[in-house]
Amino acid sequence: MSIDYSEKIPNNVGLADNKTLQRALEHWQPEFINWWQDMGPDDSQNFDVYLRTAVSVDPGGWAHFDYVKMPDYRWGIFLTPAEAGRKVNFGEHKGEAAWQEVPGEYRSNLRRLIVTQGDTEPASVEQQRHLGLTCPSLYDMRNLFQVNVEEGRHLWAMVYLLHAYFGRDGREEAEALLERRSGDADNPRILGAFNESTPDWLSFFMFTYFTDRDGKYQLCSLAESGFDPLARTCKFMLTEEAHHMFVGESGVGRVIQRTCEVMNQLKTDEVAKIRAAGVIDLPTIQRYLNFHFSVTMDLFGADVSSNAATFYNTGLKGRYEETRQDDDHLLNNASYPVLEVANGQVVTVQAPYLNALNERLRDDYVRDAVAGIERWNKIIQKQGIPCVLTAPHKAFNRKIGPLSSSKISPAGKVLAEAEWTHHHLEWLPSIEDRAFVSSLMGRVAEPGKFANWIAPPGRGINNQAVDFEYVRFN
Ligand SMILES: [Fe+2]
Ligand SMILES: [Fe+2]
Repeated sequence: MSIDYSEKIPNNVGLADNKTLQRALEHWQPEFINWWQDMGPDDSQNFDVYLRTAVSVDPGGWAHFDYVKMPDYRWGIFLTPAEAGRKVNFGEHKGEAAWQEVPGEYRSNLRRLIVTQGDTEPASVEQQRHLGLTCPSLYDMRNLFQVNVEEGRHLWAMVYLLHAYFGRDGREEAEALLERRSGDADNPRILGAFNESTPDWLSFFMFTYFTDRDGKYQLCSLAESGFDPLARTCKFMLTEEAHHMFVGESGVGRVIQRTCEVMNQLKTDEVAKIRAAGVIDLPTIQRYLNFHFSVTMDLFGADVSSNAATFYNTGLKGRYEETRQDDDHLLNNASYPVLEVANGQVVTVQAPYLNALNERLRDDYVRDAVAGIERWNKIIQKQGIPCVLTAPHKAFNRKIGPLSSSKISPAGKVLAEAEWTHHHLEWLPSIEDRAFVSSLMGRVAEPGKFANWIAPPGRGINNQAVDFEYVRFN
């Protein structure tokens, strides 16, 4: 199914035949471009960037590469094709035909899910807007901008749903998505992790590894939705999300690779010597990992949540790979393990499964996230260095849910306040750590050159050479 690029707003939803929707989106488009000029990548709007653009939503047919100026990127509305006879696959409406219109009684919950997802998309662009100024190579700069334009398109995807299915409220929400600002004291983004700053490239790689992966799991569970347009929209977004996680995993991997090479050259594991050589020591990488892992844990929401139960029961949001689960897809009498603190220890208790669906999604996520940490460890092992990176305990450094009222170490031990105060800088990046990492940042913008603190990638983008001119500055 190809995308019509001859129209002002590229799409595969027959926009030309829906004048009301077309008018609403054409009204929003200049506001989006204004937002992009203000809050999109800093000082880089005139660069020609070797970007991938979706030309078709068919598997394999959606990636076309060429030089594009980011403000001219063809943002648009792309849904995967409808699946004939698709049903609601879980909850109390299980077995009914999937909804093509919003069920009236679920309107406000559905809108809330779409707005919450939509809000993360421009937020991450805002968080990352200064990073182009300190890119470690043209290859990395191009990857950053690819992620940014696709997050912009994800915003379009959610705004399409708001405009097409939620009338006036939807249009107001679409405007508010361009008004909130990441980290703003008065009008912040909705979710905590999206108000943190992404000040340096190690943070960016950790963010795209951990936080974009939360995006994957949220999109996967929305792709199960009984509301068919939401499911189809999210399915297409997932094809783009995979690249974001690749940028994160390979980025952190290359930082580790370079650090290990320098450790071997200098035959040292002393942090001061490693830092003096201009690379990021492994303990600092572990602290960044701990921070981004724990902040992302909170994005899944409270461990026990009646909203999660409602979203599932009413067919709005399923589990990860819902249709592959071997159970009744109702979950009324089932239970699921959640964590709580009792008698000074983290213990596992059973909660009604429906209320524990956030925890279930968090567990699916953790399995996936940990697998990548193991791949990073292989890089360290290959260099013969006896160091292992680990995921912190799920309960570590939580700010949401009942676990947030205790101080818990990365190993899962409940700590007295004083013990936490004494040790937390071993576990989370300190101001000094961040200052050191940011001292390494500086733009490297010659084809084939890389900053000292990161190894080149094994291969380029779209079979191009590593020293290809991925960005032209004009
Ligand atoms: Fe996204
Ligand atoms: Fe993403």
